[in-house]
Amino acid sequence: MTSKKINTMNTNRLSKTICKALNSQMTKEAHAAQIYLAYGSWADANSYQGISNFLFRHANEERNHMMKFLEYILERGGTVSVEAIPAPGPNPTSVFDCFKKTFEQEVDNTEAIYKIVKLSFDEGDWATWNFMQWFVKEQTEEETLVMNMLDKIKIAGGEKASGESLYSLDRDLASTDDEAELARNKTVEAP
Ligand code: FEO
Repeated sequence: MTSKKINTMNTNRLSKTICKALNSQMTKEAHAAQIYLAYGSWADANSYQGISNFLFRHANEERNHMMKFLEYILERGGTVSVEAIPAPGPNPTSVFDCFKKTFEQEVDNTEAIYKIVKLSFDEGDWATWNFMQWFVKEQTEEETLVMNMLDKIKIAGGEKASGESLYSLDRDLASTDDEAELARNKTVEAP
């Protein structure tokens, strides 16, 4: 192969559509990080230290997700476009509202992930399809984690949860694992 041919060789392995979808997902993950930062600050200002730390740790996870998309686009020879991150929106009005909004945001993110999975399937872009499987599992984990939190708050009284029950919830959260246990890891012996 002549050097001229090498220079003009197309090394981009992503279609225009997939590249655009990956870039907007990258921004979406950055947006999720901003939301967790905002809610974490709200929780801290309302004296929920455990909840605040949990949300701040999660903001970091979202930044890591953003980075995974960025690295993948580069790895496949695509063009990264770093765009403005939308504002996180209004603060929660209560602990229940905080986790309700968090859950809705995770479901919205899952739907965006599924769309890219579908796109990659339709295009037969198996590298992207394979890359996205990590996110499919991650979203199941994140939804489960927040769902478990919501269940605990509901048991404590939801919007009407007493200061005392929110205090113990906040304290428990300080020592709660950030990873949810998925059904696929369960057995009859260890349900
Ligand atoms: Fe990166 Fe919470 O999804």
